[in-house]
Amino acid sequence: MNIYTRIAGTGSFLPPRRLTNADLAAELASQGVETSDAWIVERTGIRARHFADAGVGSSDLGTEAARRALEMAGVSADELDLIIVATSTPDMVFPSVATMVQNKLGAAGCPAFDVQAVCSGFIYAVTVADAMIRAGSASKALVIGAEVFSRILDFKDRTTCVLFGDGAGAVVLEASEQPGILASDIHADGKHRDILSVPGHVSGGNVLGDPVLKMDGQAVFKLAVGVLEETARASLTKAALQDSDIDWLIPHQANIRIMQSTAKKLKMPLEKVVVTVDQHGNTSAASIPLALDVAVRDGRIQRGQNLMLEGVGGGFTWGSVLVKF
Ligand code: UT7
Repeated sequence: MNIYTRIAGTGSFLPPRRLTNADLAAELASQGVETSDAWIVERTGIRARHFADAGVGSSDLGTEAARRALEMAGVSADELDLIIVATSTPDMVFPSVATMVQNKLGAAGCPAFDVQAVCSGFIYAVTVADAMIRAGSASKALVIGAEVFSRILDFKDRTTCVLFGDGAGAVVLEASEQPGILASDIHADGKHRDILSVPGHVSGGNVLGDPVLKMDGQAVFKLAVGVLEETARASLTKAALQDSDIDWLIPHQANIRIMQSTAKKLKMPLEKVVVTVDQHGNTSAASIPLALDVAVRDGRIQRGQNLMLEGVGGGFTWGSVLVKF
């Protein structure tokens, strides 16, 4: 009998503090940084983002998202036998966010670890959890994408600080006799490390380097539109499906123009693309599970439909997961 991995539940959480472009522009103006709602909307599609308050970490956001996913799945935290958190903004250098979430959920004992693949992190984490479930080493897994990117933004750099937000999304994955995850495809190419990075690190009790986000936006944009089509096609080929079999495209939410371009290449109308970038901004590893949860809870995504999840981010990393919901 084949074992598959199915999504048993989804959940998400946004910190309450919401800033529209106008709110952010006003805050930046007070520091001498000029931007506008019109520029941000035209170039990115972003209209608002959420920022966590001081003292709230990825583990707090991730735990809330996890509680909601567990509730939808009808699974209790002590039934979990695997927890993976995708994040590039952990609460601390170590221990992992995953172990903190485990503890906050009141669970103990099961393996818990973080995956760091920046904006592709959730795709990587789901791929690892799926492999462990199909290998028989886990049967109920919690996979979370959780980020507080507001902590690593340079609010003097208008080319990046208007793009990102904080949040978390989660799925509960379960071993099943029915598919489930149909295919996945993940990649990395470290030669592109400098086009998107946070180059600071901790050494000898000091932070060395510059611990804020640096991005060559145009270089990232160009690479992203190419690899997002490639990886979607790779997952379709592995599952012996075609473009027209995709019911919903749930891409990493970085820029509406990248999403439009990917949808066009996959011959999908924009109505079949789940878009949350307008309300969330780019929440890195959290963006895909956040978007998934929004469209599950508002009733757009129905059981039995084929979902193409795909992401791209620093590293450079990219990948996709094709799943029958
Ligand atoms: O999550 C990881 C994946 N990340 C991404 O996918 C990001 C990919 N890249 C992008 O989304 C876009 O490249 C950006 C949104 C980052 C930038 O858009 P762009 O169309 O590539 O703009 P640009 O960098 O070419 O800048 C155009 C102009 C510049 O002014 P000049 O030189 O033409 O006078 C910038 O200084 O826009 C100016 N500009 C701004 N103006 C107002 C840049 N940022 C801002 C801003 N407000 N916030």
